[in-house]
Amino acid sequence: MLVLGIESSCDETACAIVEDGKKIISNVVATQIPFHQIYKGVVPEIASRKHAEWILPVVRQALNEASMKLEDVDAIAATNRPGLMGSLLVGLTFAKTLAWSVNKPFYAVNHMLGHMYAAHLENDIQYPYLGLLVSGGHSIIAKVNGFDDLEILGTTIDDSVGEAFDKVSKYYDLGYPGGVIIDKLAKNGDPKAFTFPVPKMDKGDHRYDVSFSGLKTAVIHQADFFLNEGYEKTVENIAASFQETACKTLVSRLLRAVKDTGLTTVVAGGGVAANSRLRAMLAEHSELKCIFPPLKLCGDNGAMIAGVAYHFLKRGETSPLNTTACARIPQFKRGLANLEAFGRR
Ligand code: KG4
Ligand code: ZN
Repeated sequence: MLVLGIESSCDETACAIVEDGKKIISNVVATQIPFHQIYKGVVPEIASRKHAEWILPVVRQALNEASMKLEDVDAIAATNRPGLMGSLLVGLTFAKTLAWSVNKPFYAVNHMLGHMYAAHLENDIQYPYLGLLVSGGHSIIAKVNGFDDLEILGTTIDDSVGEAFDKVSKYYDLGYPGGVIIDKLAKNGDPKAFTFPVPKMDKGDHRYDVSFSGLKTAVIHQADFFLNEGYEKTVENIAASFQETACKTLVSRLLRAVKDTGLTTVVAGGGVAANSRLRAMLAEHSELKCIFPPLKLCGDNGAMIAGVAYHFLKRGETSPLNTTACARIPQFKRGLANLEAFGRR
């Protein structure tokens, strides 16, 4: 079964064709980074206009690279939440129209289900496992029982980890998007230069939760206070120390979840899963089997959306053509039935 997946939730216009939820036939990602760079962040209005301009050529290119016509695919899918409203609407409306025009089933896919699925592309992974979803908008630790069955154990109580990377980069004028730049700068810095605080949320309800707003404030406004003797306040040292603390925060909560659930397979997803220090830190835990998507599938792409849709298709489900976009997933809270957080309603 061939699924064409469209992704337009933020600043990438993307389309992919995936066979049986596994094999990537084509995967086109048109990044808008150069258009947002001068503003040091994503400008929603520019993003939606670029999507509107690029969606048709990107879909055409994905079909061309697969040597296919629209009629050859079995289903059409698009991200419908969460994300920037105007951006989501472009991909979603385009996908629904395509599906209607060729009379193929349509699937609206939750972007975070997509990120969780990315590592499954071209790779066999058994459920259940612990999922680490780390992106520009989310930081989630979940017990993953199936492609659409995630029990949220912990989440951020304030900023997402990706947002902290981006804000630190913006403040120190390092460039946009921040994550990849900080990752690179950190390689020439010393993570021991600053001892930034790791949030302590040890009790009860917050056992697996993370927080990045305190770290962000410390790095931006109080860096001098955390500088250790004998070290210089260079951007490389700031990057390395910040990254070390951010990764430690995530890994410490994840290890708690490993201990409590007995699950030793960890699957990561989302833009921050590309981080080299996060990968190295988890690799130090030989008791764990840590699976990361390849770098090109950590960020936003259409293949992960097509992959998820294939499983809905296999279950005989479809999404109605009046499915709407939704900027946020307010139900992303611990303990809620996964259907509320991840279902396609
Ligand atoms: O998944 P994604 O492409 O979009 C969202 O769904 O948000 O994630 C984007 C986030 C940005 O915050 C970006 O700075 C971060 O992922 N990111 C990284 C790295 N590459 C991208 N963060 C840390 N290290 C990286 N190498
Ligand atoms: Zn994403």
